Order: sequence, then C-alpha cells, then structure tokens
Amino acid sequence: EGTNNKQVPTGKGGEIHQQAGGKNPTMTTAQGAPVADDQNSLKAGARGPTLLEDQIMREKIFHFDHERIPERVVHARGYGARGYFESYDPIPELTKADLFQRKGEKTPAFVRFSTVAGNKGSFDLARDVRGFAVKLYTQEGNWDIVGNNIPVFFIQDAMKFPDLVHAVKEAPDRAFPQAQSAHDNFWDFISFMPEAMHMVMWQMSDRTIPRSFRFMEGFGVHTFRMVNTEGQSVFVKFHWKPKLGMQSVVWNEALKINGADPDFHRRDLWNAIESGDFPEWELGLQVFDEDFAEKFEFDVLDSTKLIPEEQVPIRKVGRLVLNERVDNFFAETEQVAFCTQNIVPGIDFSNDPLLQGRNFSYLDTQTKRLGGPNFTHIPVNAPKCPFAHFQQDGHMAMHNPKGRANYEPNGWGDNGGPRADARKGFTSVPVEEGGVKQRSRSETFADHYSQARQFYMSQTEVEQMHLADALIFELSKVETPAIRVRMVAHLLNVDKGLAEKVAKGLRIPDMPAPAEAAMPTRDDLPV
Ligand code: HEM
Repeated sequence: EGTNNKQVPTGKGGEIHQQAGGKNPTMTTAQGAPVADDQNSLKAGARGPTLLEDQIMREKIFHFDHERIPERVVHARGYGARGYFESYDPIPELTKADLFQRKGEKTPAFVRFSTVAGNKGSFDLARDVRGFAVKLYTQEGNWDIVGNNIPVFFIQDAMKFPDLVHAVKEAPDRAFPQAQSAHDNFWDFISFMPEAMHMVMWQMSDRTIPRSFRFMEGFGVHTFRMVNTEGQSVFVKFHWKPKLGMQSVVWNEALKINGADPDFHRRDLWNAIESGDFPEWELGLQVFDEDFAEKFEFDVLDSTKLIPEEQVPIRKVGRLVLNERVDNFFAETEQVAFCTQNIVPGIDFSNDPLLQGRNFSYLDTQTKRLGGPNFTHIPVNAPKCPFAHFQQDGHMAMHNPKGRANYEPNGWGDNGGPRADARKGFTSVPVEEGGVKQRSRSETFADHYSQARQFYMSQTEVEQMHLADALIFELSKVETPAIRVRMVAHLLNVDKGLAEKVAKGLRIPDMPAPAEAAMPTRDDLPV
C-alpha cells in the first residue's frame, strides 16, 4: 500500500498535499522534472508576494492559458467514435477503390456527428441539420465522406456559404440567438433564396430533431464519380442507412430534453457503445450514368436536388459499425479533420459548385483551427497505410522525409525516396471540359419548388402537421412582418394548404401573391 491518499498538512491554513505512491506516479512538469508540492506557489515569506522565479507554477498556468483552440466555424458541437467499415460483395465493375475489392474486408473508421449552427457548448436537440462525417482509413489513403443527415443543401454555389452561415449563427451586434429557434437574419436570408426551399422543408421536418445519432440517415449529398481499372466511370451518390431505422422526438420533447440534459445525444452514443450495443449503418450507392444524368428532370450537379430512390434504387455495398468510444475527446473528436478533398483512387469529384468550394474550405480552415499544415501528423488524421512524401517542417512537424533526399527527380537511386506510380496512383477521370469563363448559375439549376413539394407530399399527415407547426413556431419568432410574408409567398409555390396553415398560424391577414418563381413550377412531377 502506498501513501497516495495520505493527506499531509503543508501550511498553517491546513491545506492538504497528496503524495505519490502505490499506483499514483510522481507528478512532473511537462519537461519531466518531479514536483514536490502542487498546492502552493513559491513566495517570499509565508504571506509575501509570489515569485516570478516559480518555474513550476508559470509552466502550469501558461499551459492552461493555451488549452482552447478555435472551435469549428460550423459544426462546432459534435461527438465522435471509432469503428470499422466492412465490405459486402466486391464492386470492381464500379470502382477500383481498394476497400471495395474484398468481401468481408474491414477498414478502420472514425465518425463525427454534429449540429451545424450552435457553438461548442450548445445543446444537442436544437432543431438543426446533423453532420455525419466519416473517415475511412483505407489501404490507399484516407477517404472522407463529409455528409449530413439530409440529402440536399440550402445553397447551390459555395460562394453563398459564408452568407448562409453568417445569417444562421449569432448576429454580430447582439451575439444571439443560437440554433434553438428561428430569428430574423436566418429567415430574412432564406426568404431571398428560393433555392433553399427544398432544404427548408427537410429542416422543418422531424428529421432535424433526431431521437439519437443512431437513428439517423446520412448522405454524401453531392454527386461523385466512381472509376474502375478500365477507366470507365459512373456517377454515384452515397447514403448511410441506420440499422435501427429512423426515429425523431417531437418538438415538445426536444425543448424539455434540452433543458434537462443538453448532452442527450452524446450520452446516448457513449452509453450505447459502452454497453456493447454498437450502432450500425449500411452504405448504399445510387449509381447512374451520363445518359441518366442527361434525361433526369434536375441537374445532378445541383445539391439542392436529390435523385428519388424510386428512380435510382440504392445498392448496399457494406456496413459501418461504431464499436469503440474515444479515449481522449480533444485528441480525437476535437482534432479530427474531415475534408471533402480526401478521396482515394477509384473515387472522383463532380463539377458540383458546392463540392468544388468545399474542397478549398475544409483544408483552409483546418490549417488555422489545428495550428498549421501538419495536422495529418495527429494520429486521428494520419493515414493507417504506408505513406511517403517530401513535405517537411512547419509547426509541430513530427516526421520529415527520411534520408538525404527531400526532392525529386534525384540521382540517389534506392536512397532517393518515394517516386510517383503511374499504375497505382490517383488519376482524374479524363472528362472533357471547356467553356466561356463566366460567373454563372446554370439554367438547369432552376425550379426550386418541385422537389420541396415532392418532399412535403411524401410526409404522412402527422409529419405534415409537425412541419407546419415547426414553420409557425420558427416564423413566429421573426419580429419583422415582411419576412414572414415573404416566406408564406414561397410556401404558396410549395403547397397551398401548407401556406394557408402557416399564414393562419402567424395571423397574416391577407395572403400574399406567390413568390416569383425562377422557373414555372412543375405540377406534373411524380409525388
Ligand atoms: C464542417 C458537412 C457545405 C465548410 C462540416 C462538417 C460536416 C459538414 C459534417 C463537420 C465535420 C466534422 O465533424 O469535423 C457539410 C455538407 C455540406 C457542407 C454535407 C453540403 C452539402 C459546406 C460548404 C462549405 C463548408 C459549401 C464552404 C464553402 C465547412 C467548414 C467546416 C465544415 C469550414 C469546419 C471544418 C473544420 O473546422 O474542421 N461540414 N458541409 N461546408 N464545413 Fe461543411
């Protein structure tokens, strides 16, 4: 038995002083020097001033002062877990991506779920989109599917992302509100963005108050490409289907839970994994070709539109299991860096202008958030396959190129370091591109209401009621009458009955004219 619990009085005031022993190691400074007393600073006399000389206290306080890093500019509140992806039957005809080539192969994974608008300390059950970000540590590099629990997005072009996020987060003068409820800036912005109406329908549905992370779908949102060894490519959309199915709470419950337990979702994930009830999702692909893309009623590069599963059924190609909680929230969940540009041979981008902007944004923001260019040296971000390159130095560099060569071509033969590999290396699908340089929005990105209507019509009566109630609740928080009226004018283009319900709920005396649609609405679409 050690003396670790022995409390040794150290001063007249009766302060206590726990000593090392038994299983408790000797406390040291960050430099490894043993510490004798962790209660008292060094003073000139028992009641004298603290001495600047106290290197132990200075080191301790200095480090504490630097504990915080910037929270994510969006998706600041999140919770992560480790797991694996297990492939079903190989799909070499679709993709050469290594993780899909062997049935039963397990690829390590890290997943982070998040809310979008709230700060790091906000509550879990805000009405908000949920992030569903997956990092797959494949044998050919890290592949990140940085998705949400909703298959479409608010905007079509990354150029508008800073405006969207400014509008949804706290206003710069008053610094409130957070994501819990609607406010003028968000709805003001949305009321000028007809392209957001489809996403707004999903946002006001029960999907944005999920029962837990385990009961959510996930979506890669954008159209990506897959390419096989023959160089043939197809378009693909990624879907995660929860094994437990989907469940939501109702708004009344969400409000109460937020008050009683703001950590409701993170606690649920932690407890499920701790008790061996491992959450699971299947990865589904919607695969289609150029012909389908040409004929489809909407542009497959437009992230405010989805492809109905009735038109392109989902093919399940593997499952994701979360079976390990993190040991260190900061090291893993806080420092993990998902990035849409992290793809592997066999996967490629499409020209979706939202995706193209994201490919810049994540790397850029993470360079700041994680303190420089070397955040791939943090274990949660490092590949788990062999890797070799000539990048070196910079803040916090943990490894540099080995040996003499840090450039190529070089004449050092076998000691010359890594070389590019035309056979195995990443090559872009050789799509022919060209056109007049212009700032533009394609005409094929118009028609902002048909899929919004399609979604509303797909809801059960009860779900439609929840959606209308959510709109009334959120818009009733908007102080500026003109914003409410503009929103009702948009809803008239989605569904007249819905618009009337919301107008009545908001006590708008005169129904406005429908908002001017960018294109004639299409009543003839299947619902
Ligand atoms: C963070 C999803 C659009 C910029 C995230 C995260 C998710 C996500 C899941 C959290 C990642 C994590 O857990 O660490 C999406 C989806 C989008 C979308 C599904 C649309 C389909 C955009 C756009 C931009 C953007 C258009 C910018 C042009 C960011 C930034 C972060 C972020 C800067 C913070 C990243 C970090 O600090 O690590 N997004 N996002 N996102 N997103 Fe997006």
